[in-house]
Amino acid sequence: MQGLGLDPDETLPLFQLGSACTRRPGPRSGKQLYIKCTNSALQSLIVQKTHKLCWRRGFERLSLPVEKSAQTQPPQLVAAPNPEAVAQKAQQKADKVGLEMEARQHLEAEPRPLVELRKSEAVYEEAKKILPSGASSNVRVYKHEPFPVIFDHGKGSRVWDIDGNEYVDYLLAYGPLILGHCHPSVVNAIKDQIQKSSMLGTTTELEVEVAKKIASMVPGAQMVSFSNSGTEATMEAVRIARAFTGRDKILKFEGHYHGHHDYVLFSVESPSSVAGLELAPTKLPFYPGIPEGVSHTVIVAPWNNLAALERTLKKYANDIAAVIMEPVIGSSGVIPPADGYLKGVRELAQKFDVLLIFDEVLTGFRIAKGGAQEYYGVNADLACFAKALGNGAPIAAITGRRDVMGMIGPGKIAYGGTYNANPLSLAACKATLDVLSKNDGEAFSRMNSITQKLTDRLQQACDKTGHDAVVQGVGPMFQLYFTRLKKISTYRQTLQCDYEKFKDFREMMLERGVYFHPDGTERLMLSAVHTTEDIEKTLTAAEDSLSKLPRRYYRSRSVR
Ligand SMILES: Cc1ncc(COP(=O)(O)O)c(C=O)c1O
Repeated sequence: MQGLGLDPDETLPLFQLGSACTRRPGPRSGKQLYIKCTNSALQSLIVQKTHKLCWRRGFERLSLPVEKSAQTQPPQLVAAPNPEAVAQKAQQKADKVGLEMEARQHLEAEPRPLVELRKSEAVYEEAKKILPSGASSNVRVYKHEPFPVIFDHGKGSRVWDIDGNEYVDYLLAYGPLILGHCHPSVVNAIKDQIQKSSMLGTTTELEVEVAKKIASMVPGAQMVSFSNSGTEATMEAVRIARAFTGRDKILKFEGHYHGHHDYVLFSVESPSSVAGLELAPTKLPFYPGIPEGVSHTVIVAPWNNLAALERTLKKYANDIAAVIMEPVIGSSGVIPPADGYLKGVRELAQKFDVLLIFDEVLTGFRIAKGGAQEYYGVNADLACFAKALGNGAPIAAITGRRDVMGMIGPGKIAYGGTYNANPLSLAACKATLDVLSKNDGEAFSRMNSITQKLTDRLQQACDKTGHDAVVQGVGPMFQLYFTRLKKISTYRQTLQCDYEKFKDFREMMLERGVYFHPDGTERLMLSAVHTTEDIEKTLTAAEDSLSKLPRRYYRSRSVR
């Protein structure tokens, strides 16, 4: 077993098949697992079992050569039958039938694999041939999975993969699907708009209407400007701040993500071995390709620590254009700001005369009608929105102070985008905001209360099954951290959590029809259309998974 790279303690029923089926070191190369099967009748069951095994254990491929049995040989002419040989053959046959029945009992006694992912695997094999790494965004593939689950379609809070498995969806396409999949209001709005025009290339009445709607929902939104993605919104906000202040430097926080433009790709997921001191984090580019020169425009500070921020601002104030932050971290699990922290940051920004940018790409139109600015009663100078704004249509917005936003315009800063404020996205956006703002934002209070119910009971399930864990969140965003800590308040504390355990837990949830984000360092989200039934299904799956997590996991350890 060791030769095959499997843990001897994890013998699976497959290997209880005795002579009917044996693993052998044989022609195994790379991560292939070869199984020698002497009984073709069992082949389909074994394939079913081992397919899951291969996926779970990281083997890329299964090869199952079935040895030719006597029955499969071409018929031969023989002399008169020897009675002894006939009796022996009959006995062998009886033994075989007995063995087969025994093996079947073993297999059927085991819970059958709940997910078959063969098509996902096959499509991913094809994808890799034409798409670098098999995906158009790095977050869609993970080193710890041999292939990603590939989705086919969704409806409401549920999503189906191409093998036909159904899941309660807590990924929500990484955030946009605040009204779930295919919300009829959004679908109809897009259908209606596409009959009129998908692109016009001028300012439109719809654009003005949607901008006014956003301004009515978001505190401090004296002006609104549209783009297409969170990355574009934060990139433009940084440029606006630089132009407005005449300074180059941007202060960002360790563990915060603001999209994939160079200005902000520093210290996003610093591993503890190279992250430096917690109060003076080492500035680390988020992988190669970021020019050295850009790093001179970025200052990195620890979040949720006013004293550290004040020290940094004191040192660099005259060079800093803006402080940018996720007002609730949603890119390292979900970490709320400490009491009074955002107010304190607001005051420090004022004191040192730097602009404050809230990246509300995750929190916006999700934790409250007016995002984190409303939720915490703190206004930024600029705020960036995307994801939930369009329920899946590519749209983003920057909102903020009239004087600061006034930097946008011909001869002022470069601000462009062929697809900015395209009517299709605007139509989806308007429909989304109309649904979200109905009955004074009832959708938000519902999302918040249903999520609270889920997180409270998830925490209880962890406690009851003896797992050290913290379940925490804000609004419909939450995360389950396996840790002995009682609360996660900083990025550095996330480094002490057990993500190996999360991976196994997440995989068990997947098998039980619940789709969690594959990466425990990210977050989970509910939509406005998740139901009590979804919550109950999730909790049943969680209780079952937690009670079956291998015993080695009963004590959390740091692995990141
Ligand atoms: C907080 C935050 N800001 C910015 C972005 C970038 O948004 P986009 O992927 O739409 O470019 C993301 C994406 O996950 C995000 O979570």
